Amino acid sequence: MARLSGRAAIVTGGAKGIGRHYSEALAAAGADVMIADIADGEKLAEAIAGKHGARAASMTFDVSDEAQVKGLIAKTRERFGRIDIIVNNAAVYSTLPPVKCTDIEVALWDKVMAVNVRGPFLMVKHVAPHMIAQKSGKIINIASGTAYKGLPDFLHYVTSKGAMVSFTRALARELGAHNICVNTLAPGLILSETGLENTAHLDQSRAGVLASRALKRDGYPEDLLGALVFLASPDSDFITGQTLAVDGGSVNT
Ligand SMILES: NC(=O)c1ccc[n+]([C@@H]2O[C@H](COP(=O)([O-])OP(=O)(O)OC[C@H]3O[C@@H](n4cnc5c(N)ncnc54)[C@H](O)[C@@H]3O)[C@@H](O)[C@H]2O)c1
Repeated sequence: MARLSGRAAIVTGGAKGIGRHYSEALAAAGADVMIADIADGEKLAEAIAGKHGARAASMTFDVSDEAQVKGLIAKTRERFGRIDIIVNNAAVYSTLPPVKCTDIEVALWDKVMAVNVRGPFLMVKHVAPHMIAQKSGKIINIASGTAYKGLPDFLHYVTSKGAMVSFTRALARELGAHNICVNTLAPGLILSETGLENTAHLDQSRAGVLASRALKRDGYPEDLLGALVFLASPDSDFITGQTLAVDGGSVNT
């Protein structure tokens, strides 16, 4: 039987970039998948359902808006009857140009925090009651290796990803009594489709990142999928509050 058979997952930001690969990997492992993104994920949901025979659905939503998060949770429960796994992947990332800390507009700072930090909080606020009731759940927060080593000209983004590490630690302590595992996946620089369209991060980081890695090669979305499915599966049932860096050995968490 597939590892995630009978489980239902939500992947925020699951229609594009790395999230698209997460959505497909969870479906390939047998999960029902709700692709939740500000971008349209309908065609992807159809393709995944056709390819893997999984139940896949999509909903366009803004993760920073509480009413829309509530709508997403309601629709997922209506469609799949339960929610076992959430992947807090949606973020303002690939579209961000580098900007000096002295030049970041307050509105942009607030937007990055609203999507990258408030978003995961809202997801947890409205999913945790269901996970508590069913006495199980897997919450996977997506951080970044930059939270550990810093990166110039992306202070807003790096700060938001550092918050995910603390968010995971605090939440794991609070939800552990309900048998809910909360962990962080921290990718290193990944050549995602969206990252290759907006090359600011690549231009800024690629050479330094390659030099910093124990494994001297670029990272691709496929490199993250084993860790993601592991954190979503019963194989990680005694692991919580941790950060797993998948970055070719660049940072030690
Ligand atoms: N690509 C990398 O090198 C890298 C490295 C470390 C961490 N990450 C993290 O991995 C995740 C995915 O990165 P990516 O490379 O696919 O970049 P990306 O910018 O394409 O991913 C962001 C996803 O979130 C969605 N999104 C943006 N705003 C949203 C909103 N308000 N509501 C709902 N969805 C929204 C986008 O449509 C997109 O699907 C992000 O959390 C990013 O911080 C990426």
